[in-house]
Amino acid sequence: MPHLLHLDSSADLQNSVSRGLTGLFADTWRALGDEHTVLVRDLHRSPLPHLPDAGLHYAARLRTSTERPDPDAEALQAELIAEVTNADALVVGAPMYNWSLPSTLKAWIDYIHVLGTTVPFDTPDSPFAGKPVVIVSSRGNTYAPGTPGEGTDSVIPPLQQTLGTSLGMSVSVVTAELTLADRIPPLAPLAGQAAESLAAAQDTVRALATELGS
Ligand SMILES: Cc1cc2nc3c(=O)[nH]c(=O)nc-3n(C[C@H](O)[C@H](O)[C@H](O)COP(=O)(O)O)c2cc1C
Repeated sequence: MPHLLHLDSSADLQNSVSRGLTGLFADTWRALGDEHTVLVRDLHRSPLPHLPDAGLHYAARLRTSTERPDPDAEALQAELIAEVTNADALVVGAPMYNWSLPSTLKAWIDYIHVLGTTVPFDTPDSPFAGKPVVIVSSRGNTYAPGTPGEGTDSVIPPLQQTLGTSLGMSVSVVTAELTLADRIPPLAPLAGQAAESLAAAQDTVRALATELGS
């Protein structure tokens, strides 16, 4: 039963580009067959509390004697980790907010990236190794090579580091750039480039959903 975990974090509930693309991914996944299921976790509509206790960053056996996280917080962490465990693939909407991740998405990372539980640390266990995750990042400007924004993107590198390098997941990245071309007058001349970026992202999302769900 191919199961998808669909995460969104955009604070825009009307015109979000990342929500459009993650929704297209999920629709393509569902269209592959009735057995293709999707769980949606909307990190903006239902935000997680910020990590309430540093002890949650470690498996219980690695905590200090004074680290005793609230059982409710531990239960929430276990639920979030189980959602990833149960998924055959993930699609993650990751808009750029002030060159970085929405804090709602960062909070999710802080719950599921756990030394000794999901991250190999004192044992070689790496339960999420090889699990496909598609990061969909929308951004108002462009960060392409050769542009002034090159090298300033702090959305994709930390997601690749945590989900890919550390958790061992198989990361694909889809970007839609220049989404503010229709709002910010100086970007208006780049509207054609924005449309091309969106069309390419839609094609890539459809192809990835079909490949990963088949
Ligand atoms: C709080 C906030 C901060 C933003 N910061 C940036 C930024 O640093 N760089 C950028 O290119 N666009 C920035 N934008 C524009 C968004 O990245 C752009 O609107 C993107 O399409 C948002 O994703 P969404 O369409 O899925 O909501 C920002 C937008 C918001 C709401």
